[in-house]
Amino acid sequence: MKSPICDMLGVDFPLVGFNHCRDVIVEISKAGSFGVLGAAGLTPEQLDFELSWIDERVGGKPYGVDIIVPATMAEQSTTPQSMDRLLPEAHRHFAENIMSKFGVDPSEIYERQVRKSDAFLDESKANDILDVIFSHPVALVANALGAPPRRMIEMGKERGVAVAALVGAKEHAVKQVAAGVDILVVAGGEAGGHCGDVSTMVLVPEVVEAVRPMGNIPILAAGGIVMGRQLAACMAMGAHGAWTGSMWLTTKEAFTSEVIKEKLVEASSRDTVRSKARTGKYSRQLRSPWTDSWESDAAPAALPMPLQGLVAEPALSRITKLAEGGHPGARELATFFVGQGVGLMNEIQTTRQVIYDFMEDFLAATERLGGVMAD
Ligand SMILES: Cc1cc2nc3c(=O)[nH]c(=O)nc-3n(C[C@H](O)[C@H](O)[C@H](O)COP(=O)(O)O)c2cc1C
Repeated sequence: MKSPICDMLGVDFPLVGFNHCRDVIVEISKAGSFGVLGAAGLTPEQLDFELSWIDERVGGKPYGVDIIVPATMAEQSTTPQSMDRLLPEAHRHFAENIMSKFGVDPSEIYERQVRKSDAFLDESKANDILDVIFSHPVALVANALGAPPRRMIEMGKERGVAVAALVGAKEHAVKQVAAGVDILVVAGGEAGGHCGDVSTMVLVPEVVEAVRPMGNIPILAAGGIVMGRQLAACMAMGAHGAWTGSMWLTTKEAFTSEVIKEKLVEASSRDTVRSKARTGKYSRQLRSPWTDSWESDAAPAALPMPLQGLVAEPALSRITKLAEGGHPGARELATFFVGQGVGLMNEIQTTRQVIYDFMEDFLAATERLGGVMAD
């Protein structure tokens, strides 16, 4: 296919798949698309292990890595503190009460010692991670939630590795191009995980026009894309490919919890919510009584990143574990980051089959478009 994304990333088809599971990344890249491993939360040692695992199995096919270096975070703490002291009582009690109402024991979930920055990278921690990433044969490194660290852009240019940035607003797109990124991932409000509030349908052409005078930067459209026809639509709007996250969660290879997979397959496109209550910044998630409670008037306002995540994650991790064991209250509460495209994810399939179906749907859509004009 003719797309600058294919040339830059060395793939036949401009579909990028984001997931935290190394098996999914290997399958995506081996099937002719481009897998990107989500590295958020991994230590440099863990990431090195994951990337070596991928290198051994991916057969030389190209893949990438995604990290999160947020532009803004609550003030950092260098000494570990107990979560008990770090988090306001109102937030802890609110979470514990939701759990209790659904029969989930909340005791001792906030007794761990943490640094505030455990969940996301600041610039100095990002440097260690970047050293690991660039010691592997990656073809792309991406950053979310802010401009990529300068060192990431410099190292990418030195080593011929494409640097991508995820953006959810036109202003951010213009800033990232000025900062020197090679690829823009333009994520609409339908997207799973962190997202802005402008739909993909509007944001993609808006960004295409805004960055046109700044050069021909390749654009990957994201947010709600699950079917090939949506990639065709995005390419018609001026994008050069798609970046997808949600659609891989229900693949056979994904390590998504089985309970979550079942809930995702059952969910419709109206069963998600964009909320600050999981991480402190807006992210789209599967609706459940957990998210409904946090969106209610009784809920305390979300804390800034990364503190809100320290309220939500310990609770949700216990909830998911119990749900897996068959606890009915925990099953109801269980939630996960996912986009509105969840309504189009209706069965559990192998990653390879998902890609073949996607390609076939893309081809059918381009044929339909080709037949639109009268002779
Ligand atoms: C479960 C899940 C976790 C995500 N985690 C990250 C992440 O760690 N870093 C990141 O840049 N994007 C993350 N995202 C967002 C994706 O990179 C992507 O922008 C988004 O999934 C695209 O929209 P879609 O889900 O509708 O395909 C995540 C998305 C999902 C669904």
